[in-house]
Amino acid sequence: MTHKIGVIAGDGIGPAITAAALAVVRATGVDVETVDFDLGADRYLRDGHVLDDAELEAIRGCDAILKGPLGPPIGDTRIPGGTIERGIILRLRFALDQYINLRPFTGKGLDFVVIRENTEGSYAGEGGFLRKGTPAEVATQGSVNTRMGVERCVRYAFELAQSRERRHLTLVHKTNVLTFAGDLWQRTFSEVAAEYPDVATAYNHVDAACIYLVEDPGRYDVIVTDNLFGDILTDLAGAVVGGVGLAGTGNLNPARNGPSMFEPVHGSAHDSVGTDRVNPTAAILSAAMMLDYLGEAETAGRITKAVQDVLSTNPVPAHIGSLVAERV
Ligand code: IPM
Ligand code: MN
Repeated sequence: MTHKIGVIAGDGIGPAITAAALAVVRATGVDVETVDFDLGADRYLRDGHVLDDAELEAIRGCDAILKGPLGPPIGDTRIPGGTIERGIILRLRFALDQYINLRPFTGKGLDFVVIRENTEGSYAGEGGFLRKGTPAEVATQGSVNTRMGVERCVRYAFELAQSRERRHLTLVHKTNVLTFAGDLWQRTFSEVAAEYPDVATAYNHVDAACIYLVEDPGRYDVIVTDNLFGDILTDLAGAVVGGVGLAGTGNLNPARNGPSMFEPVHGSAHDSVGTDRVNPTAAILSAAMMLDYLGEAETAGRITKAVQDVLSTNPVPAHIGSLVAERV
């Protein structure tokens, strides 16, 4: 069966690492057809388009999306803040109902997964200005948490924890201060936990979780948390296991009524373009997650094994992409 992959190569180092990941996918011999979508900062600067409805519908017609990092260089004032991030990344996550942001972290002897709710929280865009530009200006930015959204995320996390050897799930939130959202998360977590008696549970406040991730990350097996906490914690987790350059993401639509999207955790790193610091590992691992999600578990396993083999050589070679492609 041919898998139709929508490719958003990305900005900055995106095109280089996405090409490396696709070269690895092709080297496995798996049957894929790719469709390129020209989206991102360069496109916006060229014609002012962010993501047209027709493009969104064409993306919806793909089996999966392989996406590079998107965004202008830091400090670039030609593009209003958030245009690309909200207009492409969040629009795709929301419109395609990719409600699970799955980020596995392996390295330095660690093996844990963060499940980040991906369609709600403070990313939902609730809020606004009052009296903008005046000394009495007000800005609000709310966090949207629905029972449905929280429950489907927590349930996914319990299922995942149950399938893993340690069967341990930690809820991370800030229930001592965010008493409304935290209460909904905590109650939902406890109620769903009753259906999974074989999964051991824990709760950490997000600030404490930051200490534990640095001082004792081995305590974690699966973490479930909201959109913003998950964004921050997964950058920290990436750094803890050896750098965000190694971390891949699945934006999953578990109902499979739309394509899921796979992308590195890291950003577009415009300052690294053309240097030997460009490392395609996160993009390659994201492509492996994509194949796994498309039912190609054996091929995905070959890719992750090849990445591990190449990364275990000391010093880590510069041309990781071609070395992985030779080994799959
Ligand atoms: C990520 C990124 C995005 C996010 C940005 C680019 C919108 O940081 O995937 O973690 O905040 O989710
Ligand atoms: Mn992030």
